[in-house]
Amino acid sequence: MRMESPDSEKPVFTLNKVKFKDILYIKKLTIKEKKTTAIVGRSGSGKTTLLKLLNKLISPYGGTIYYRDIPLEAIDAVTLRREVVMMPQTPVIFEGNIRENLLIGLKFSEKKLPPDNKLMDMLHVVGLDKKLDEPAHRLSGGEKQRLALARVMLMEPRVWLLDEPSSALDKDTEDLVMQKVVDFGRRNESSIVFVTHSSPMAWKYAEEMIEIENGEIVSIKQNQHA
Ligand SMILES: Nc1ncnc2c1ncn2[C@@H]1O[C@H](COP(=O)(O)OP(=O)(O)OP(=O)(O)O)[C@@H](O)[C@H]1O
Ligand SMILES: [Mg+2]
Repeated sequence: MRMESPDSEKPVFTLNKVKFKDILYIKKLTIKEKKTTAIVGRSGSGKTTLLKLLNKLISPYGGTIYYRDIPLEAIDAVTLRREVVMMPQTPVIFEGNIRENLLIGLKFSEKKLPPDNKLMDMLHVVGLDKKLDEPAHRLSGGEKQRLALARVMLMEPRVWLLDEPSSALDKDTEDLVMQKVVDFGRRNESSIVFVTHSSPMAWKYAEEMIEIENGEIVSIKQNQHA
């Protein structure tokens, strides 16, 4: 008899014998829907490669990745990225002001553009005390990172893939921003997958922690306290 898992335990991604070059091999992995999952591991272990596979920026050499019940090869990348949005490890900042940079993700995916007060609210969530008309290129590295994070959240994706979203922040700011971001995601019932170098961050905010070493999963830990 097959056991039905409760609704909250449904996978958002299922990976089966997924291989990418000689960099990554994942025999089996499920990422849960509406949960916060951390991916931890040393530099070069394959964390970014895994996120890119989930967002179809790269395709596996073997095996299958399912988004919910659908194999990724059956979903076109643009459709997938309307629901699954990735924040790259190095924030991409475009010419123009903060407002334009916030709206660009929504424009690309042809979604409705929100009014300024909603943009300001989002800057507040990431703790960025700046005017919408300020040029974005003047921002510091950590501020650019937070701008990129606000851009992803404005898109209200079903799944967030965040590649070291707080790596350029000092400890206190990191903690503040991560708390607000995870709260926001949970309120919106989003599934959050974030990469981090920091085990304390993973322990604090993730319900599940996946550890990668040399392109393979070495542990999956559940966290009751997140
Ligand atoms: N397209 C590619 N072709 C060949 N090698 C690659 C490719 N992409 C990444 N690599 C290599 O695969 C390994 C894993 O890279 P990846 O970017 O996934 O690591 P990471 O865990 O995200 O590291 P970091 O914490 O430094 O960001 C690295 O050694 C990298 O040089
Ligand atoms: Mg990386």
